[in-house]
Amino acid sequence: MCNNISAGIISISSAVPEHVLTNFDMEKMVDTTDEWIRSMTGIEERRIAAEGEATSDYAIKAGKIAIERTNLSPEDIDLVIVATISGDMPFPATASIVQDALGCKNAAAFDLAAGCSGWVYALSTANAYVTSGIYKRVLVIGADLLTRLTNWEDRSTCILFGDGAGAAVVAEVEEGCGFMAFELGSDGSGARFLKIPAGGSLKPCTPEALAAHEDKIYMEGREVFKFAVKVQGTACEKVLAKSGMTPNQVDLVVPHQANIRIIESSVKRLGLPMDKFYVNLQKYGNTSAASIPIAMDEAVQDGKIKKGDIIVAVGFGAGLTWAAGIMKWAF
Ligand code: ACO
Repeated sequence: MCNNISAGIISISSAVPEHVLTNFDMEKMVDTTDEWIRSMTGIEERRIAAEGEATSDYAIKAGKIAIERTNLSPEDIDLVIVATISGDMPFPATASIVQDALGCKNAAAFDLAAGCSGWVYALSTANAYVTSGIYKRVLVIGADLLTRLTNWEDRSTCILFGDGAGAAVVAEVEEGCGFMAFELGSDGSGARFLKIPAGGSLKPCTPEALAAHEDKIYMEGREVFKFAVKVQGTACEKVLAKSGMTPNQVDLVVPHQANIRIIESSVKRLGLPMDKFYVNLQKYGNTSAASIPIAMDEAVQDGKIKKGDIIVAVGFGAGLTWAAGIMKWAF
């Protein structure tokens, strides 16, 4: 993009917990049905981290595989970014824990919080560092254990989320490949629709706040849904325009895996067939910042993404935020 350096993803990986929680299991936990969850969201099951596990455990697993899939060693990584809203602790950054565990001794590290848009935000950050020549190799992880922050008595949210992580190494790629454009945005007036009210500087976790589940996810689903339908399509259109591409030149869209009805709205808006959108939310639910890299890794393993393909990644999330990136796949 500048300095004549093209940056792109040179490896991708993911890690999800083993334990599967199906919609039928959820029927025993809250007043819901498999039929309602499938028809309203498309989700059939999700993965849940075991007791004692932390977001960093999955970030480390995914990050390790991503580095192993390159010819680099951990010492070659200059920067670790972990996109997350469910870090191990309020501080230090989960990225620092990951950097140490992976032996990325020469890397700087920070977390990036942009909800489910976080991983695409982090990709654009990595792109800026690599194309500017500041850093050569950036490990970009999206990791969230949102089920730790779920109110299991709230049937309208607890059915949505799952746990996991995905990771990519971003580095210089051959000219003509890699990132072509990004479109990022935020509308903070919607911050109130999706939040964890207590536990930050605004409201401590008092016994009253805990009793009211204010340390857990609060969401006005209908508002988030309307926002998502609007911005996901617009973000795709804008990133296509920035890159000079048209929808029919896109080989695969990898959208945030939140709700099949939100994805279907983008299918209509872009006028592309459904099979141009990669969907795996039925297996994992909404894994927040991890959802796009988990889907992208699966698409690569399935042979649905090949070198030279034009790929769009698009997401939306808490903030409210949105992010889209378009790239020519480099490996
Ligand atoms: N089982 C059965 N019924 C339910 C359930 C459930 N699990 N949850 C809600 N309902 C009921 C409600 O009580 C309501 O009943 P009522 O009409 O008798 O009052 C009815 O279903 C409709 O509820 P709504 O919440 O209005 O349903 P909606 O059509 O909005 O669908 C959903 C809910 C699926 C959550 C939808 O709003 C949605 O997907 N929103 C987007 C959420 C999202 O993607 N969030 C992630 C953001 S990413 C991030 O950064 C974390």
